[in-house]
Amino acid sequence: MADGTPAAPARLVATGLSKRYGAVQALADVDFDLQPGEVVALLGENGAGKSTLVKVLSGLVTPDTGTITMDGEAVNISSSARSQAAGIAVVQQEYSTVGALSVAENLVLGKANSPFLWTRGRLRSEAQALLGEVGLGHIDPSTKVEELSVAEMQLLEVARVLAREARVVIFDEPTAALSDAETEKVLAVVRGLAAKGISIVYVTHRLPEVFAIADRVSIFRNGRSLPSVAIGDIDVAGIIQMMLGRTLETMYPERKPVAGDERLVLREVVISGLSAPVSLSARRGEILGLTGQLGSGADLVVKALASETPILGGVVEVDGSPLKAKDRSKGLADGITYCSPDRKRSGIFAGLSIVRNLSSSWLSSVATAGTVSTRRERTAAEALASAFAIDSKRLGSSVGKLSGGNQQKVALAKWLGNNPTLFLVEEPTRGVDVGARSDIYAKLRGLCEQGMTVVVSSSDTNEIHGLCDTIATFYHGEMVGVGPADDWTEDALVAAVMNRSEK
Ligand SMILES: Nc1ncnc2c1ncn2[C@@H]1O[C@H](COP(=O)(O)OP(=O)(O)OP(=O)(O)O)[C@@H](O)[C@H]1O
Ligand SMILES: [Mg+2]
Repeated sequence: MADGTPAAPARLVATGLSKRYGAVQALADVDFDLQPGEVVALLGENGAGKSTLVKVLSGLVTPDTGTITMDGEAVNISSSARSQAAGIAVVQQEYSTVGALSVAENLVLGKANSPFLWTRGRLRSEAQALLGEVGLGHIDPSTKVEELSVAEMQLLEVARVLAREARVVIFDEPTAALSDAETEKVLAVVRGLAAKGISIVYVTHRLPEVFAIADRVSIFRNGRSLPSVAIGDIDVAGIIQMMLGRTLETMYPERKPVAGDERLVLREVVISGLSAPVSLSARRGEILGLTGQLGSGADLVVKALASETPILGGVVEVDGSPLKAKDRSKGLADGITYCSPDRKRSGIFAGLSIVRNLSSSWLSSVATAGTVSTRRERTAAEALASAFAIDSKRLGSSVGKLSGGNQQKVALAKWLGNNPTLFLVEEPTRGVDVGARSDIYAKLRGLCEQGMTVVVSSSDTNEIHGLCDTIATFYHGEMVGVGPADDWTEDALVAAVMNRSEK
């Protein structure tokens, strides 16, 4: 350095990392480095190898080749205990919390230097402090984790790393199901850790976040690392070009006026969990978007229509007939499908092949006298795969081996393969990369032009603003606004979601 002080060694240097799974080269001679107190955004398409690097650094995956040093010394991080002992803490992409344990127990689980016996009171007060820092102050620490929503679980994962003493904290898509309000909390946590000299690896598909926190971006493509770029030297278009190897003309398909008949009508519908009745409608061909922050209830309308949440009063009509609220186990009425936000709880079968997952909701339609035609199944699955940017060469492999974003694409494609007339979906593009997202939006719009109606709830205001024809916003268990998308600016939508006045 110019003033003569020796430069501090890099916090973490990974050199020549490779990892192969059968025919898939997940990491190919990857180099990665991280300085003390630095925030590096790790970006790339679905399946590019980001989580594989995260798993190598967390001791869950042993690389085939490569070396890792921390603060100038070679480290052995060949197990998760060793990785933790070396000072690496990780917020994994798929939740690692234990559902049957309480929130408080999960927070101290695996914490280094935890006293042998926690008193109940100490456990509770430590947990409460950590929850407050991530915006989960409203959660009782004795709640079982399995009762939390996807967004709450994400925030709980973030709270868990705060309980660790770490030199490096890795966040693998911590905000994929969070609205702007909760995202702000996570970004504040990241900034706070970096200010203390902790180094951060931050994986996301939500590119605006990158510019809010990162010092540098490191982009992976097909398992290879590209040379990193300082944040001041790149913009969103530049990042997309490096990620995809091409530019993205438009993210959202063009909106045309929707003139179809009323398909869905909600009149004064009382939904468990919402404090006021909801009246809404959607036409054939229309995409109705619902948004709000955590706990706003925006998701409850979708859940109620999908019979996941009780409807306590009012009228719901689909194509002029009352909606038959069925027991969940009996499935939904004909023509209606629901894609849950939680891939783990429902939606996809990790142990089955991509083909079988894609066909599971319409298998009977390609069966003759109870026998499945595998050729017809495969042909239909191939068509879906290509529409949803799913690698058609991998249709035979199990879904559990796909990257997070690719699993999400399978979940969506599976339910749309049913040709629903009414498609109910929460967080449709959770964890999906920018390129595949634009394909999915185009596909949804195309199906709507053929008469499908979509009711979508999403924490991503940009998605709701860009995709939907009509937008309803929710705050604290109440619908607070509804109107044509053209009447909203994105800023106004964000303000409404946060209940700020600058409309
Ligand atoms: N256990 C496994 N068996 C086989 N293939 C695997 C396994 N784990 C990962 N892969 C493959 O390695 C590649 C990289 O996956 P990885 O999860 O690192 O992607 P990613 O960049 O995190 O993607 P996403 O943005 O979707 O999370 C993918 O092709 C994935 O299918
Ligand atoms: Mg991943």
